[in-house]
Amino acid sequence: MLKHDVVIVGAGLAGLRACVELRKNGIDAIIVSKVYPTRSHSGAAQGGVNAAFDKDDSWESHFFDTVKGSDYLGDQDAIEILTSEAPANILDLQKMGVIFNRNDEGGIAQRPFGGQSFPRSCYYADAVGHMMLHGLFDNVLKYKTKILYEYFVTGLSVNNGRVTGVVTYDIKTGKFEGIAAKAVLFATGGYGQVYSSNTNALINTGDGMAVALRAGVPLMDMEFVQFHPTTLKSTGILVTEGARGEGAYLLNSLGVRFMSKYAPKAMELASRDIVARAEQTEINEGRGVDGAILLDVRHLGKERIMERLPQILQLSIDFEGVNPIYEPIPIRPGAHYSMGGIKTDNDGKTLVEGFYSAGESACVSVHGANRLGGNSLLDTVVFGRRAGISIAKYIKDIDYGDFDGSLVKRDEEIFERLRNSKGNERHGLLKTELQEDMRKNVGVFRERSLMENAIKKIEELKERSKNIALDDKSKLFNTDIIEAFEFNNILLIAEVIARGAVLRKESRGAHYRNDFPERDDENWLKHTLARLNGKGKVEFNFTPVKITKFKPQPRTY
Ligand code: FUM
Repeated sequence: MLKHDVVIVGAGLAGLRACVELRKNGIDAIIVSKVYPTRSHSGAAQGGVNAAFDKDDSWESHFFDTVKGSDYLGDQDAIEILTSEAPANILDLQKMGVIFNRNDEGGIAQRPFGGQSFPRSCYYADAVGHMMLHGLFDNVLKYKTKILYEYFVTGLSVNNGRVTGVVTYDIKTGKFEGIAAKAVLFATGGYGQVYSSNTNALINTGDGMAVALRAGVPLMDMEFVQFHPTTLKSTGILVTEGARGEGAYLLNSLGVRFMSKYAPKAMELASRDIVARAEQTEINEGRGVDGAILLDVRHLGKERIMERLPQILQLSIDFEGVNPIYEPIPIRPGAHYSMGGIKTDNDGKTLVEGFYSAGESACVSVHGANRLGGNSLLDTVVFGRRAGISIAKYIKDIDYGDFDGSLVKRDEEIFERLRNSKGNERHGLLKTELQEDMRKNVGVFRERSLMENAIKKIEELKERSKNIALDDKSKLFNTDIIEAFEFNNILLIAEVIARGAVLRKESRGAHYRNDFPERDDENWLKHTLARLNGKGKVEFNFTPVKITKFKPQPRTY
């Protein structure tokens, strides 16, 4: 069995940022990742990372915008940390070699983003996630960090209320192994693959959240799923909010900039929940164009499009067959981001000793019911760094706990049963059924009867998943078996989302219920916490929202 002081699971921005913090202090931290680090989904982030730099801007204004964006569900002590620590974190990245576009004075250039009262999104064209990921990865390599890539984590060892390591599966060889650790950080990203038409990489199957939940760790606010307003109609590929930040319009089939009806002041730059609902309303009421809305960047001109939005230009040509220099881009809302996740405090600590989470897998909560664009990259570096600092302190004076070796055997047996199953179901087909059902029934607009249909479907799929058989029975690089496991993870996450959404009888941020269209602060200004009980059933309780400065107000843009 391997033994390392700290195991970081996930090599996206939050994991890498925490790793830099630990490794620069000489701590024995290793990274375990399902993919090679530069293939992590953080690399797909396009438009920007927020920080108040301008003399006419302030972190307090960023603080308020984020609280308002969260529809008052974000914890304000955490949002204060996010926004006040933002500038120093971006400057740190710059020192580590991350490249940003520059303004005329030579400072970091910033563009407008949705729900922000000031242009404060720092960017590199439309590929800022790519730049940040590569910059941080270079630093992790500089500190000669051990990286186990193409390793899948299937279990978390918890002994006497303390985390003592993880169970890993080496995708390349098919071998299970435990890694004992004093502390474990899950920076495992989101679960976008729960939905069809999403912006997420295929790897985003909520693995960390599912493993944590099975190990007894609660997930918070899982009913809040962000639908990004602009994703390519045919594939769900992200078209950055940066396009609207640069001045792009949204048009319906009548050629009307319909956002004037839904957000007369902010127009296309209202917060994402509002723009996504406006688009879906236009489509539902027959003013869409073949089930889509048009995003028009033509008036920005070829030169600006090529300089600021080169990736969008190429993606639209390659995946939609449309050249945005000459034609509007057909887009529609697509599942994009998990506001909920593993409940943590402001230093990444979960409710289980020695177990930490940061980035999209965590719920601090800084995004509440709706995240503002450009705040997720910020979340990864601010809270990734803080988790690293906190872990360094925690492991200083403790020994290794007892690793629960029975978990390795448990997971080996699950995999063996799957490999030898003679069942008649295929995980790929079940996944498509789940994704389509979640899109239709627990999507942009929700109501009780539809969500209950989704829960029925999930129960049916749970039964059918017992009959999954594999086409590839081998041990070496068997992606069939990984996908079967991933399917079980998204199925569990879908159940938590759907049950949480039925439970929350109000509309707030991204959770909009036709049957409860108003926000209800009296009864629902609280976080939901989901746990699995002894029989594997999802149960909920509640925890209060931390309000320090801004009392809930009506939210208009
Ligand atoms: O639209 C975008 O570029 C996405 C940014 C984000 O999700 O923060």
